[in-house]
Amino acid sequence: MSSALTDLFPLPIVQAPMAGGVSVPQLAAAVSEAGGLGFLAAGYKTADGMYEDIKQLRGATNRPFGVNLFMPQPEYADRSAVEVYAHQLAGEASWYETELGDPDSGRDDGYDAKLAVLLDNPVPVVSFHFGCPTRDVLDSLSRAGRLTMVTATTAEEAQAVQWAGADVVIAQGIEAGGHQGTHRDNPEADGSGIGLLSLIAQVRETVQIPIVAAGGIMRGSQIAAALAAGASAAQLGTAFLATPESGANALHKQALTNPLFVRTQLTRAFSGRPARGLMNRFIREHGPYAPAAYPDVHHLTSALRKAAAKAGDAQGMALWAGQGHRLARELPAGQLVEVLAAELAAARTALAAHSGGGGTGR
Ligand SMILES: Cc1cc2nc3c(=O)[nH]c(=O)nc-3n(C[C@H](O)[C@H](O)[C@H](O)COP(=O)(O)O)c2cc1C
Repeated sequence: MSSALTDLFPLPIVQAPMAGGVSVPQLAAAVSEAGGLGFLAAGYKTADGMYEDIKQLRGATNRPFGVNLFMPQPEYADRSAVEVYAHQLAGEASWYETELGDPDSGRDDGYDAKLAVLLDNPVPVVSFHFGCPTRDVLDSLSRAGRLTMVTATTAEEAQAVQWAGADVVIAQGIEAGGHQGTHRDNPEADGSGIGLLSLIAQVRETVQIPIVAAGGIMRGSQIAAALAAGASAAQLGTAFLATPESGANALHKQALTNPLFVRTQLTRAFSGRPARGLMNRFIREHGPYAPAAYPDVHHLTSALRKAAAKAGDAQGMALWAGQGHRLARELPAGQLVEVLAAELAAARTALAAHSGGGGTGR
C-alpha cells in the first residue's frame, strides 16, 4: 500500500460509506478495530446527525475512520419530467397507502454545514461522491490534516480528481452496488460504464495518486486482483451490507442471497441517478421511464420506499447491491475483515508461487 493510506490503517480494506442508515457507527467501529478503514456516510443526514455519528464512533474506537459527503447537484433542467413521473407513481402511493414526497425537499444536502463540521473536527479521512470538490475545499481539508478521497468512474474523472488536489482517487467500477459516483449525470452515457479491472488500469496510467478500487469485490482474491492491477486498497460495500452490524433492513440483507433475486440492474427509478440494486418489481415497472432528476426523485420516492419496507414488501424497496451480491456472508464485520485479509494473503502467496517467487502473504 502507498504510504498516505498505509500510515493510517494496516489492511488494504475499506468499508464503503453507505447512506440511508446502512454504515452506522457500530459497523465502522468494527471494521476500523479489525484493521480496515470504517466509514460513516453523511449523505441524506443533517450536519448535526453526522456529528452525532462521529461522536458515537469515536466513543467506540480510537482507530482512524472516514466520513463521506455527497456533492451538491447542479440545478436540474426539466422539472416537468418529475411531475410526469409523480403522476406515474400515483398508483404506488395508493397501493402502499402513503403520499409521494416533495421533490424539492433538498438539493445541496447541507454540504457547507457538513464541511464546516469536518474542518473543525479531527476526522482522519473525508471522501466525496457525485462530483469533485473545488481545489479550495480540498486544500483547506488538507491543511486541517484530513486525507481526502474522491470517487471517479472514468480516467477523465480521475484526472480531474488529481488536478483538484485530492490525496486518493476511488475508482468505482460499473459492478458497484448503490449509486455510481459519476461527476456529471449524463443519460447519453448510460450503459457505457467501465468494469473495475479495466478502470483501475486506465486510472493507473492516467494519475499518480493512490487508487482505492470499488465494485463487486466480495473475496480476498478479488482484492489481490485489484492490488495487482495497481490499486492500493479495496472499498467494499455489499460485502459489509450483509453483516449483523450494518443498519440495512433485514429484508434487504436476506434478499442479497435469496435465489429469487437473480440479477442486479442500474436504475434511476428510486433516486433519479443511476444506482445498482437487485432487480425487483419497482425497478422493472418504473426504471424504463424514470427521469434523470437526482435528488428530486429520491425525495419523491422516499415515503414509498419506507412504506414498502414497513409492509415487508421487498419488491417495492431499493435493494442496493453490487454484482457480487450472491457471495455475501453474514459474518460479523470484524470477522469478515479477518477472513478477507486471510483470503488476500492466500491469493498473494499463490500468485507469487505461480510466478516463481516467494510469497510474503500480504
Ligand atoms: C447500500 C449502499 C449505499 C451506498 N452509499 C454510498 C454513499 O453514501 N457514498 C458513497 O460514496 N458510496 C456509496 N455506495 C457505493 C460504495 O461506495 C461502493 O462504490 C460500492 O459499494 C462498491 O461496490 P460493492 O457494493 O459491489 O462492493 C453505496 C453502496 C451501497 C451498496
